[in-house]
Amino acid sequence: MRLSRTVAGTLVIVTLVVGVVIGFLSGYYGPGAGTATTWKHLLSRDAAEGVREKLLGEINGGNIRHNLREITRTPHLAGTEAAHRLARHIARLWQEQGLTGVKTLPYTVMLSYPDKDNPNRIVLRDGSGDVVHTSQLAEKILSPEQNHSDVVPPYNAFSAPGTPKGPLVYVNYGRMEDFLWLKDNKQVNFTGTICIARYGKIFRGDKAKHAQEFGASGLILYSDPKDYSADTTHSVYPDSWWLPGTGVQRGSLNMNVDPLTPGYPGTESAYYLPDGEANLPKIPVHPIGFDDAKIFLENIAGDEAPESWRGALPITYRLGPGFKEPAWCLEMYISTHNENRTTYNVVGFIEGEIEPDRYVLVGNHYDAWVFGAVDPSSGTASILELSRTMGKLVKEGWRPRRTIVFCAWGSEEQGLIGSREWVENYAHILGNRAVAYLNMDMSIQGNYSFGGRALPMLVRPLYDAAKQVPNPNPEEIAKGRATVYDTWVIGVPQKDADGKHTGKPRVPLLGAGSDFTHFISKVGVTCADLRYRFDEKQGISSYPLYHSVYETFHLVDKIMDPTFAYSKATTQLLGEMARNLADSYVLPFDVGSFASAIEDYAERVEKHSGSLMRSHGMDRGLEYLRLAVIKFRLAAEQFQRRVESVDRNNPLAVRQLNDQMMQLGKAFIDPLGLPGRPFTRNVVFAPSVRNQYAGSSFPGLTDALFEISRDPNQEARWQEVSKQLAVITYFIETAAVSLQKPVDL
Ligand SMILES: *[C@@H]1O[C@H](CO)[C@@H](O)[C@H](O)[C@H]1NC(C)=O
Ligand SMILES: *[C@@H]1O[C@H](CO)[C@@H](O)[C@H](O)[C@H]1NC(C)=O
Ligand SMILES: *[C@@H]1O[C@H](CO)[C@@H](O)[C@H](O)[C@H]1NC(C)=O
Ligand SMILES: *[C@@H]1O[C@H](CO)[C@@H](O)[C@H](O)[C@H]1NC(C)=O
Ligand SMILES: [Zn+2]
Repeated sequence: MRLSRTVAGTLVIVTLVVGVVIGFLSGYYGPGAGTATTWKHLLSRDAAEGVREKLLGEINGGNIRHNLREITRTPHLAGTEAAHRLARHIARLWQEQGLTGVKTLPYTVMLSYPDKDNPNRIVLRDGSGDVVHTSQLAEKILSPEQNHSDVVPPYNAFSAPGTPKGPLVYVNYGRMEDFLWLKDNKQVNFTGTICIARYGKIFRGDKAKHAQEFGASGLILYSDPKDYSADTTHSVYPDSWWLPGTGVQRGSLNMNVDPLTPGYPGTESAYYLPDGEANLPKIPVHPIGFDDAKIFLENIAGDEAPESWRGALPITYRLGPGFKEPAWCLEMYISTHNENRTTYNVVGFIEGEIEPDRYVLVGNHYDAWVFGAVDPSSGTASILELSRTMGKLVKEGWRPRRTIVFCAWGSEEQGLIGSREWVENYAHILGNRAVAYLNMDMSIQGNYSFGGRALPMLVRPLYDAAKQVPNPNPEEIAKGRATVYDTWVIGVPQKDADGKHTGKPRVPLLGAGSDFTHFISKVGVTCADLRYRFDEKQGISSYPLYHSVYETFHLVDKIMDPTFAYSKATTQLLGEMARNLADSYVLPFDVGSFASAIEDYAERVEKHSGSLMRSHGMDRGLEYLRLAVIKFRLAAEQFQRRVESVDRNNPLAVRQLNDQMMQLGKAFIDPLGLPGRPFTRNVVFAPSVRNQYAGSSFPGLTDALFEISRDPNQEARWQEVSKQLAVITYFIETAAVSLQKPVDL
């Protein structure tokens, strides 16, 4: 549908008048200046020629290596002086690189630390109280660079302090289904037990939540060689990237509770909740390595664990409860405690030339459990190289159309805290101005293939960027795979419902788990997360040395990416993506794929629960959902046609379409939040309640349906399902309207 001649003519005149007025105000029409046509020409310019090539060509692996070397010299744990020092270092670099408005913003938040004078440990005692085994107090030093007095011993942030004693129960991965299986099939009474779960599959905080819900008095987490070392027969760090038995995964148990200032930033004027700790875990939780775990596990009594529950330790896995020697007892001594501290975020700007009030945000966190060479310093080192490169292009005369905001977040490791406070602080402004947020927590967690994740509208731009970046692997190039995309499409193939390769790479949804979370769940910003990854077929749960003291410079420099070619490739990909989003006249978002995603989620509801819902009288509700989805699809198609036929000489018409795309994700924000989750407000994309690492679609509805047959109060639960079905239908309908022409409500 085209604008009528008169309307179009009026628009052009308005544009010219606005242009001329702005021109006069800004002195553009001073002596020797051009005409209104020049002004209009400037406003409707497309991305500058040749910038992509310059950008990709300037990014340098040696610089990334240098950045990583500097950042990983000392540990920089959240909330410590070392972390603050790193924040100041990043701010100084950004200023030198030519970013403007560089600021280091403080927030008061609750963080968690172990007690130096009373080290956390787990003790196995025999019947007469003698110690059989004590878990190691610190990870063994295996290479000289880890020998630093600031290394924090392994702990789980936000564990409750305490000294529970009890019989041990093996709970596999600590998933809901694992606990239910033990309860239903082995009649395990968890009250007063200490549970031991292996890391992997789901977020560790959800394991703690489950253990607490089932009545355990403590939880031990360990890394089984099956999930983190493939098996125990090969060489380990420092000779390879495999986890040694002395390595321990640290990590937070909290990803969604803002204990002191829920919903608001921890600024000076904020109201601080007096009983903020009330919503944090109530049982002690502590992580150990598999050398320690082996001794506890091989002494457990009870039935043999089922096949799928067995790890790769050379023992017989048993379920418990209790030990083969009935008098033996396990004791946890946990002194982890909470403290209020200041955390800092750093932001810096490359001001947009034409639309400075539109933001493309690029960021990652800088705090690390220890040296954090992979998580997050590989990401930080890459982003610092990208900001240098863009700063250089600016000095040479380039300015992106829109503003690029570089962000370095504090205290991510303790629960996405820095980015959460910042998003809370600027939620309204981000709602109006944020085009996209591109996160790069780590640039490499392996060197097998690129492995980006994204919300649907950014999938095509991600493919496009990957097609521009040369393949960092010479062997791959020799096989005819010239670009990052060529490896990705083979390494991480997308499969359709019948298991057939679609010919495209798979791009998983974002769950929680890094700093994009609050952008999505509070504001509805379209986000992507970029990294190079390991081969999933290796069957491991993360890169093996994740959050251990062994994540050192040596690991990246000598083992994972000695040439820094992979780090360079992800940096280039991030840079190209940011450039495209910031500089393209028409935003490169793919609205059609949003419609496809909505269709897909609705189909899943139909497939998994359709007949059950119908048997509870929801025929009409499901029909309304179906119609809303069709309406959204049609609106997306019509919108796409308007994009294709827009008068590119009319900058206001283009801006209007761009704004509709920018706001689309935000149309799914429910100010009331999801049921029981007031601060998680995105009704299409949210972290799953049972595993916050995973993304869940239509979360309100999915949660209402979860295990519904076990709920004793069927009536109330089905009312909730009915309500959530109507809520999602309503949001899809209004989002469809938001894509229509503005005079068509
Ligand atoms: C660690 O450093 C300290 C002091 O520099 C030294 O005394 C100690 O022997 C070192 N430990 C190891 C295992 O290298
Ligand atoms: C579980 O054990 C606790 C204490 O040992 C006891 O009070 C409780 O009644 C038991 N629960 C069941 C369902 O047997
Ligand atoms: C943190 O600050 C809050 C609010 O001022 C206070 O109630 C709480 O006791 C403090 N917690 C700690 C561990 O100091
Ligand atoms: C890729 O990483 C693995 C460890 O995961 C390492 O063994 C291998 O040498 C690396 N390959 C390259 C080309 O750097
Ligand atoms: Zn991280």
